[in-house]
Amino acid sequence: MITFDGVTKRFPDGTVALDDVSLECPTGQITVFVGTSGGGKTTALRTINRMVDPTAGRVLIDGQDVREKKPAELRRNIGYVIQQAGLFPHRTIIDNVATVPYLLGWDKKKARTRAMELMERVGLEPGMAKRYPFQLSGGQQQRVGVARALAADPPIMLMDEPFSAVDPVVRAELQAEFLRLQAELEKTIVFVTHDIDEAIKLGDRIAVFQTGGRLVQFDTPENLLARPAGDFVAGFIGHDRGIRRLSFVKAAELVLRDHEILPLTSTVADARATGQDWVLVVEDGRRPVGWARVAGLPADGTLSDAELDPLGHTFGIDGDSARAVLDAAILSPTGLAVGIDGDGGVVGVAGQQDLVTALAAAGTGTGAGADAGGDTR
Ligand SMILES: Nc1ncnc2c1ncn2[C@@H]1O[C@H](COP(=O)(O)OP(=O)(O)OP(=O)(O)O)[C@@H](O)[C@H]1O
Ligand SMILES: [Mg+2]
Repeated sequence: MITFDGVTKRFPDGTVALDDVSLECPTGQITVFVGTSGGGKTTALRTINRMVDPTAGRVLIDGQDVREKKPAELRRNIGYVIQQAGLFPHRTIIDNVATVPYLLGWDKKKARTRAMELMERVGLEPGMAKRYPFQLSGGQQQRVGVARALAADPPIMLMDEPFSAVDPVVRAELQAEFLRLQAELEKTIVFVTHDIDEAIKLGDRIAVFQTGGRLVQFDTPENLLARPAGDFVAGFIGHDRGIRRLSFVKAAELVLRDHEILPLTSTVADARATGQDWVLVVEDGRRPVGWARVAGLPADGTLSDAELDPLGHTFGIDGDSARAVLDAAILSPTGLAVGIDGDGGVVGVAGQQDLVTALAAAGTGTGAGADAGGDTR
């Protein structure tokens, strides 16, 4: 665990980059520092590996003040990745990745074997080993930067806007791979970004910094969206935080409603007898095929002769989030999303009001992440 205990940094020119910051970055998790430009994120990150020493307060790693260790010794356990990857332009990719093992005095063969393993881990072709950084795309260079930081297998990784110099598509790929890798490696990661979407996607915990180096909220992504601490955080999150929150609610948490269901073989008269405006039509037991608008049905015959309105798409009650439910509801002619189980059978339907109810229930603070450390301090 990395602990910031009342950390203040005042630069010699009087600039206050960090103002009495206290927070804890849990071991094996991703803590994201986000906020306005000049808010002190990079400075905070650098107090961990002693590229910056605080004016007041302490930074502790597993209870030990980082200033009790020599910077070189400290940094052996801390990987550092920066924007634009910061690769050595005149070294090949493999030698870039092996930088730290070389520094640690590993023999060349062992260092290179390790570098090749890491390249594969981060999704780089072995054929790239002999190339130079300028011969790689921006996204590939970022991968090299991550591989290089992982080379000494440090328990802690500091990452300062590592994915910000690439286009949105590559960025999304890098983020997904980063999460996959982290699920396997379980490093203690501190990740700086100015992008709230990236913070919400990657962070187990998010620290929001405001100009002047003030920590305005330290919380889980769920709580940040549900209960932003004041106008600054709310503004930073944006106007669509209600929709974003739905990503953190499971479809399984929704209370689904029953709806009138008829098989394709039913008659138009059966549909009318329901007294409903719309009937959900199924085949093979409970597999949904479409919506029948009762008023638009032919005079007689069966539902299989009628033209049905498409379902749009359904949502899975086991795997999907409430955001998928919202999307399905918006695209549905009835405003109702159809929930299916693992066998593809209808379980129930949900509309806008059910989503509102689920969000309200999720906002009562009893959900995951409302535990200790979830408050602003
Ligand atoms: N060596 C320095 N001397 C004086 N002021 C500094 C120094 N380094 C940073 N600062 C100032 O400290 C404040 C915080 O800077 P920092 O780089 O930590 O911000 P940041 O949140 O990382 O910003 P960005 O999102 O733009 O990277 C800024 O006002 C910056 O100008
Ligand atoms: Mg910065």
